[in-house]
Amino acid sequence: MMQQKVIVMTLDKRFNHIWFPFTCSQDAADYPPVIIERGQGLYLYDQSGKAYLDAVGSWWVSIFGHNHLRITGAIKAQLDQLEHVLMAGFIAEPTLRLTELLTAMVPPALSRIFYSDNGSTAVEVALKTALQYWANQGNARRSEFVSLSGGYHGDTLGAMSVGGIPGYHALFHERFKKQHFVNAPYCYRCPVGRLKETCNAECMDSLQEFCATQGDRLAACIFEPMVQGAAGMRVYPAKALERLFNICASYGVLTIADEVAMGFGRTGKLFACEHAQRVPDIMCVAKGLTGGYLPMAATLVQERIYQEFCGDFMSERTFTHGHTFTGNPLAAAAACETLTLIKENNIPSSLAETAAFFRTRLEEFNEFDIVGDVRSIGMVGALELVADKRTKNKLSPEKRTAFHICRQALRHGVLIRPLGDVIYFIPAYTITTTEIETMFLAVKQAIKETLYE
Ligand SMILES: Cc1ncc(COP(=O)(O)O)c(C=O)c1O
Repeated sequence: MMQQKVIVMTLDKRFNHIWFPFTCSQDAADYPPVIIERGQGLYLYDQSGKAYLDAVGSWWVSIFGHNHLRITGAIKAQLDQLEHVLMAGFIAEPTLRLTELLTAMVPPALSRIFYSDNGSTAVEVALKTALQYWANQGNARRSEFVSLSGGYHGDTLGAMSVGGIPGYHALFHERFKKQHFVNAPYCYRCPVGRLKETCNAECMDSLQEFCATQGDRLAACIFEPMVQGAAGMRVYPAKALERLFNICASYGVLTIADEVAMGFGRTGKLFACEHAQRVPDIMCVAKGLTGGYLPMAATLVQERIYQEFCGDFMSERTFTHGHTFTGNPLAAAAACETLTLIKENNIPSSLAETAAFFRTRLEEFNEFDIVGDVRSIGMVGALELVADKRTKNKLSPEKRTAFHICRQALRHGVLIRPLGDVIYFIPAYTITTTEIETMFLAVKQAIKETLYE
């Protein structure tokens, strides 16, 4: 039921003019946002000097920590040269350097890069590319998308049309075009009732069935490989991803891998699709691309896709799409340094030990009655909180248990945020084992204080 609430104005009058993302207005008033003054490594510092361990990499972007000497230096050096130039008829040198570094890092088949500003625009570019790819071939029938329930691909209208989180997308699905949704590989609550031990990725039967009847209408299938992030860091097995690729291939459906959150080593492979040893037709990257410094995204496509867009001025094959800050040189300089750090530090292989320690310590959360599922892959970990471990019954939403645990963790100097009743950890790759212990200890304490005191 919709409830009107009295909003209490905050002391800092400037807050009364800000509309915070993903924040209800009452929360913004009750819990005024912490003003962060500086960052260093894993830590953010507020105006009083209090330190907060950033356990979520400031929305999954900070992969080498805050204020990294080399990334900061690269941006400063570029700032003395050129802040921006339009990317049509012109290009800045860092954008060219980035192109060289990125093409050397991704599977060779993904040979053509379209730059944009953020994860949502990378997805918009991918969706439009898929539609126009078929249209340029004279196949107007392939004009729809299929995606997984629980998927998240950004907040622009196109990206939302393929988003499958009811709380985020339902209202807009009613008003704008809604695409097709099939079962997601949500292992803790398997949509087809299988057990992990005997699963054969039967959750993908619904994709198979959909493609068998309507596959020829599909331009593409868009999915988050290996982990459905915003749905609650739902880690799923490579066999489900493999099956998804196989089904799409047999019905001629293009694959769009949304690696915005999981790309650049997060899952223990450079790109999450590698777990299934597959290369998508189109791949979206953003977030960690600039080490979390500046907005930048890239949509990479296979050459045969790009070829469908080739022609002269009158051919009407051109991809008429662009963003003002496409290929921005400052962001490109940050991205070049980030990719160089990834290479030099041998990411993700060098993270194996830290990831193993992270996983072992995360599993200790199983001791709590409220923790129904502990899941992790690489440097991603999540706890799904439940009312009853045995029945997997959900907590009542109005209690906002995970939210209050996060508030309590903040008092102990650890920044975590809930995704419904899921608490997750996506720290920078530079996190030490001591910092992992500090992070988990604070969250354990926060759980105990929230629930039992
Ligand atoms: C998988 C995925 N795709 C797309 C996006 C949208 O990215 P942005 O918030 O940069 O628009 C996100 C953001 O969390 C994401 O996790």
